Amino acid sequence: MKQTDKIYVAGHRGLVGSAIVRSLQAKGYTNVIGRTHKELDLLSQQGVRDFFEKERPDVVVLAAAKVGGINANNTAPAEFAYENMQIQCNVIQCCHDFQVKKLLFLGSTCIYPRIAPQPIPEDALLTGPLEETNEAYAIAKIAGLEMCKFYKRQYGDDFISCMPTNLYGPHDNYDLEGSHVMPAMIRKFHEAKVNGAPFVTLWGTGTPLREFLYVDDMADACVFLLEHYSGEQHVNIGTGKEVTIRELAETVKKAVEYEGEIVWNANMPDGTPRKLTDVTKLHGLGWQHKIDLEEGVALAYQWFRENVEEARL
Ligand SMILES: NC(=O)c1ccc[n+]([C@@H]2O[C@H](COP(=O)([O-])OP(=O)(O)OC[C@H]3O[C@@H](n4cnc5c(N)ncnc54)[C@H](OP(=O)(O)O)[C@@H]3O)[C@@H](O)[C@H]2O)c1
Repeated sequence: MKQTDKIYVAGHRGLVGSAIVRSLQAKGYTNVIGRTHKELDLLSQQGVRDFFEKERPDVVVLAAAKVGGINANNTAPAEFAYENMQIQCNVIQCCHDFQVKKLLFLGSTCIYPRIAPQPIPEDALLTGPLEETNEAYAIAKIAGLEMCKFYKRQYGDDFISCMPTNLYGPHDNYDLEGSHVMPAMIRKFHEAKVNGAPFVTLWGTGTPLREFLYVDDMADACVFLLEHYSGEQHVNIGTGKEVTIRELAETVKKAVEYEGEIVWNANMPDGTPRKLTDVTKLHGLGWQHKIDLEEGVALAYQWFRENVEEARL
């Protein structure tokens, strides 16, 4: 990749897309472009084709997707399947037709089998039944990942994929209906502190084990893969470290400086007992995360506090 290459980041305003734009610009890439959902609906095959015809990007990062929490996935599986498959087909085919020199496709560890070996190696993909709560999304994403492999195999296109673990940081989604566990906790503890509430209620038992990666670290890994990786298999992106949801809650409580109690609502689902990525391959390529959980949570909370107006609540 050259510093002057035209790099199109699809989904450039989302949690992942905005971090990748920051990382590319910080690394001296001067020609990074994006289009808002309003400017370019990636569900429109003609719209995507016209955009590629006009802009002719050299490199593409596909960080646009219909993303959501357990409730959203449960209530709208058809939309999650259709929208993600349509976006991927439109963008991947145009990347081929307009001969972009590199495409990075983003999967997510929630598309690995529900009961995968832990830590989860890349070749665990498609080896068992999926987590029901996000099956539609998972099948769509798996199709995207495999498409990149098939375009590389049939046409020699340099289309690569990565599989980031749970991410958090600036521009995250704080809407309690659709958000992931980390932003939900940051918002709940912040609002409890502001309102002087004596306790905060959190879902589940607090025992599940989870891995969290600060999104700017993830973006750094994505640019690293764009610059150094052309393999057919996707690459996990994570820290290789896990905490219990209870330990996460204590870390967020400390960052927010909330003095009250935590109450666990065990009637609410815990989700899969453990989800940790195997990052041997990524480490073998020469990349390691830099921002540990405590520092990352403090940075995420600082962004939330400074951007509460703009945050997706
Ligand atoms: N969040 C995580 O923890 C996580 C972990 C691993 C992997 N990932 C992967 O990262 C990718 C992005 O996720 P994210 O967390 O960054 O989601 P996000 O914050 O919701 O960003 C998604 C972006 O895609 C845009 N978009 C959606 N549908 C579109 C359409 N039809 N046309 C144009 N733009 C559209 C959205 O724009 P609007 O908001 O304007 O609709 C939004 O800016 C996904 O592929 C996901 O699998 C995320």
